[in-house]
Amino acid sequence: MNILQILRERTIEAMAAIGAPQDSSPGVTKSTKPQFGDYQINGSMSAAKKLKVNPRELAQKLVDELKLDGIAEKIELAGPGFINIHLNSEYIAQHLLTASRDNKLGVTQLERPKKVVVDYSSPNLAKEMHVGHIRSSVIGDSIARCLEFRGVEVIRQNHVGDWGTQFGMLIAYLDDVFKQSQDVTAMPLSDLENFYREAKQRFDDDADFASKARDYVVALQSGDEHCKKLWKMFIDTSTQAAQAVYEKLNVTLKPEHIKAESAYNDRLEGVVNTLKEKGIATENQGAQIVTLDELANKNGDPSIFIVQKSNGGYLYATTDLAACDYRSNELNVDCILVFVDARQKLHFSQVELTARKAGFLKDSTSLEACTFGTIMGEDGKPFKTRTGGTVKLIDLLDEAVNRAKVKVQERAIDLSEEELAEISHKVGIGAVRYFELSKNRTSDYIFNWDSMLSFEGSTAPYLQYAYTRIRSILRKSGVQDPTQVNELLLVEEKEKSLALKVLQFEEVLDQMIQEAMPHILCNYLYELASQYMSFYEACPILNNSSRLLLSHLVAETLALGLNILGIEVMEKM
Ligand code: ARG
Repeated sequence: MNILQILRERTIEAMAAIGAPQDSSPGVTKSTKPQFGDYQINGSMSAAKKLKVNPRELAQKLVDELKLDGIAEKIELAGPGFINIHLNSEYIAQHLLTASRDNKLGVTQLERPKKVVVDYSSPNLAKEMHVGHIRSSVIGDSIARCLEFRGVEVIRQNHVGDWGTQFGMLIAYLDDVFKQSQDVTAMPLSDLENFYREAKQRFDDDADFASKARDYVVALQSGDEHCKKLWKMFIDTSTQAAQAVYEKLNVTLKPEHIKAESAYNDRLEGVVNTLKEKGIATENQGAQIVTLDELANKNGDPSIFIVQKSNGGYLYATTDLAACDYRSNELNVDCILVFVDARQKLHFSQVELTARKAGFLKDSTSLEACTFGTIMGEDGKPFKTRTGGTVKLIDLLDEAVNRAKVKVQERAIDLSEEELAEISHKVGIGAVRYFELSKNRTSDYIFNWDSMLSFEGSTAPYLQYAYTRIRSILRKSGVQDPTQVNELLLVEEKEKSLALKVLQFEEVLDQMIQEAMPHILCNYLYELASQYMSFYEACPILNNSSRLLLSHLVAETLALGLNILGIEVMEKM
């Protein structure tokens, strides 16, 4: 259940009844301090301003009109016109009891959106995945998981880069290596990073090679068999490397979710033709460009979006227009979410404007570029290895697990080798994921092993530990099934507020989806675990079936929430 939503609806009804202007926002929020109750309404204050009436008087009218019987036990008027709502304990208890009998803890299905494309991870296959790829992979994955948990049909699309000019260089180099040694097993693709570097070096140093590389791109894009064979070999190796990262990082992407740039190749000519026919694209020095006045800079110069190069080649941009057409007009999704670096913000504004004008995006499909910042090193510069190289993601994940092992071992009492390995894996990977997800995605952050793997503060190890601790308390209680009670008594203040916190799970998930911001869920889970600890100190639990049920519900919420974040829990650690 979503209490915030219920209160909003009731407030909107009451505001209408007291004659507030139609466009008034109800202004319902969670209260920030216990003395302000559980929720607050401040919508009548701005309504009063518009109506030019006394805000306190209007607030009083709203209080009189609000129909919250059975929901609120007290509605207070405070200050210039705030309305504080104290929920009824009985109401919380009843709903929580119902939730306890449902395996999704009473979280309902979302009505809208029904169908969503989540475009995430989407690495460039010319190179190996590096530390920066954590962001799109993990944030996109959690949003996809969350939407699915809410019953939304999610179409994962890994829009991998496999079609640009770099591939001409790579396959030309591969061709050369083959010519020198006929031995396929000697193909130096085991180290993609190195292979790329060598090919690039060759490209920069050798003009003949560079020209061959350019010819190969054209040949590849027009379907030449030899080039396609080499290309396929390269792409297969690179996607396998990416798949190994996904499995280790607990990312739900599978090979079948790859919808590569190359998959849109056949549509690109049609895209440009449509743009030309509709007068949206015009020729400029041989290239096809779209002029966007809507995105003009402060001097009034319009933004220029190139959709075809003067040599006839297509671009990243053209592919994204084709992708819009496919997703909106063929897959018929309500919403497209693309998780990309902040530097692509302008690109997606151009894509959206152009696609809407051309009909590649229907009005009923929204397109959201969910952008993120950069992962920094301690020196405040983009995170690199000590020698200044790129940090390979697979190596970083192995290091996380090794470091977690040391930490787990320090604390563990009796773990078998096997248990230790499993727990270290869950803690290490969980720590990396949570560290990423707990940051507001729009900001840069500094990568730090110690804070990531700490058992204190808002971290995966802390939450995983909180979960095992509650589970162990429940085991010690001897109660087989804590949900077998008919009554939940919320007597103490700490009990009531913890129960309400559990019941707020759905409204947190709604907010996370609305803003495509997983840190909202991280904050909630951390607060929930901390609140549990203080409840546990204050309220004796053993032989109290109501409190045992509450403990069980907190553990379940933690497990479900962490699962949405792609973080695993364990029974002991
Ligand atoms: N491959 C791109 C990159 O590495 C990200 C692609 C995102 N998706 C898209 N539809 N453009 O930056």
